[in-house]
Amino acid sequence: AKAPVRVAVTGAAGQIGYALLFRIASGEMLGKDQPVILQMLELPMDKAQAALKGVMMELEDCAFPLLAGMIGTSDPRVAFKDAQQALLVGAKPRGPGMERKDLLLENAKIFTEQGKAIDEVAARDLKLIVVGNPANTNALITMNTAKSLPQTAFTSMMRLDHNRAISQLATRTQASVTDVKNMVVWGNHSPTMYPDIRFATVAGKAAPALVNDEAWYKNEYIPKVGKRGAAIIEARGLSSAASAANAAIDHMRDWNMGTNGAWVTMGVVSDGSYGIPEGMIYGMPCTCSGGKWEVVKGLEIDAFSREKMDFTLKELTEERDGVKHLFA
Ligand code: NAI
Repeated sequence: AKAPVRVAVTGAAGQIGYALLFRIASGEMLGKDQPVILQMLELPMDKAQAALKGVMMELEDCAFPLLAGMIGTSDPRVAFKDAQQALLVGAKPRGPGMERKDLLLENAKIFTEQGKAIDEVAARDLKLIVVGNPANTNALITMNTAKSLPQTAFTSMMRLDHNRAISQLATRTQASVTDVKNMVVWGNHSPTMYPDIRFATVAGKAAPALVNDEAWYKNEYIPKVGKRGAAIIEARGLSSAASAANAAIDHMRDWNMGTNGAWVTMGVVSDGSYGIPEGMIYGMPCTCSGGKWEVVKGLEIDAFSREKMDFTLKELTEERDGVKHLFA
């Protein structure tokens, strides 16, 4: 039998945590033959710790054959100890009257603290995804705090945006989601993201020609994908949770098990490709194999795309400038 893998999950008692942990424990992330030890972090407050206890009781009640152990803690050094996989979901939500800048700084504190713990105690072959918003900038902070680990260990979740972009294109072209290939969502996980269908194919046919409606693409599709998170909140009264957990599973599964050449969008550290400054965490088309991600290179960037990509980069640059004093 395989040795268990330690999987750290923060914000474990939150709504995404509740949709995520059971799927990790059932083998959907690392495979049906890979035992896991869940190392769950929550805030020290009684309410959060009690809720975490409840989640752990339910995990126990599932009698998952692959769940080799569980740790619930409020100490990041315990949660990240020897972790080879880390899903950073816990974050401070925007409160009433809270400015964007305050939200950024509140979260910066969390991810600086966790970054330090990761630096000290996580496994050296760690794979980490940040889900908690602002995801790309939180990943940037974590990467720059946990300096002893390779920068390639740190990613942010753009996969929900990628999956939304695929689903909306499949609906429009009356195709199945599995027919859609080579989707890209550039930039920030925010409404400035740029879902780019120029390279996408639907059942082997070029998507732009198949859609053949630039006004729909620019005025309906792009904003719809970008504002989908807000539409879910509007409809459900709560932010997307099951679809977010699903995307996190997709992201980590593909990174670990490979994509067989298929493109997936991941927020990864830029090497300067596509005019995105080195060191930024930016949504890029990636393929994964052998446990490593690689950016798809050599795609042509037209004037419309350049403008969109620079716009979302500008937002990320502003976010970075608001927190860079913390790790500079
Ligand atoms: P939630 O509020 O239901 O759960 C968050 C949990 O994190 C809470 O239980 C809270 O106690 C915990 N937490 C807060 N700070 C913590 C810390 N420092 N250490 C450990 N735990 C901590 O929120 P939900 O719905 O689960 O969402 C979590 C995050 O994911 C939010 O920031 C949300 O904006 C983000 N998100 C990101 C998406 C993406 O595509 N990247 C999609 C959907 C949500």
